Amino acid sequence: MIRKTLIAGNWKMNGLLEDGIALAKGVAQEVKKAGRKDCEFLICPPFTLLSSAKKAIKGTKLMLGAQDCHYAEKGAHTGDISAKMLQDIGCQYVIVGHSERRTNHYESNELIKQKAEAAINTGLKVIICIGETEAEKDAGKTIAVCSAQIEGSVPEISNGQNTVIAYEPVWAIGTGRTPTTAEVEEVHAAIRKVVAKKLGRANANKMRILYGGSMKPSNAKELLALPDVDGGLIGGASLKVADFMAIGEASKQ
Ligand code: PGA
Repeated sequence: MIRKTLIAGNWKMNGLLEDGIALAKGVAQEVKKAGRKDCEFLICPPFTLLSSAKKAIKGTKLMLGAQDCHYAEKGAHTGDISAKMLQDIGCQYVIVGHSERRTNHYESNELIKQKAEAAINTGLKVIICIGETEAEKDAGKTIAVCSAQIEGSVPEISNGQNTVIAYEPVWAIGTGRTPTTAEVEEVHAAIRKVVAKKLGRANANKMRILYGGSMKPSNAKELLALPDVDGGLIGGASLKVADFMAIGEASKQ
């Protein structure tokens, strides 16, 4: 297998110290028990929990990531966090360009690309999120929108090792709705083609493309079995140890 499955939890703005630490510990213990060699697990808690989550998962293979970063290394950017700071406290990954940031914080492809570039240059791996809105889907523009987002937000220094793409249809996030498996495979295969054109076939073959948007234990198996789906970016279902691990279990082929 050239691509190792990645099961990533995006906790979003959830978790106070006590329950956040308990969740990180719970996932870490289960990851240790599972002892998987074919699958990596990652949690992306909010900034406030990163340090304590790092301690909670110590000694296990569970990895730590953040949900955003600034493109500058340091300086006058009130309220922002740099990739260097994330790396300093033990993060291996950072998510950039989530649709909630594209929408709520008006993030452009250009800005997302700058963030991804900064993170990669710092030594972090990035998960770059893309995906169409419901109106775009209805207009038959899914693949065009995703292609433009890849063109605009994936930096030239991305490769199969340092970059993961997460396809998250905006209308599927937190709604309980998902595209059909045929639709998901079609989009993922198209994404890989665009990546091949941009970064070369070898990088495209190595790059993991995650599906995200209402992934849960009951639909994970069929989604994760698709040839171009290399894992999941999981929101709601990553907040319960049992659900998150059940999705991991569903990735076993
Ligand atoms: P969801 O969120 O699993 O709650 O739909 C996924 C995401 O936004 O990353």
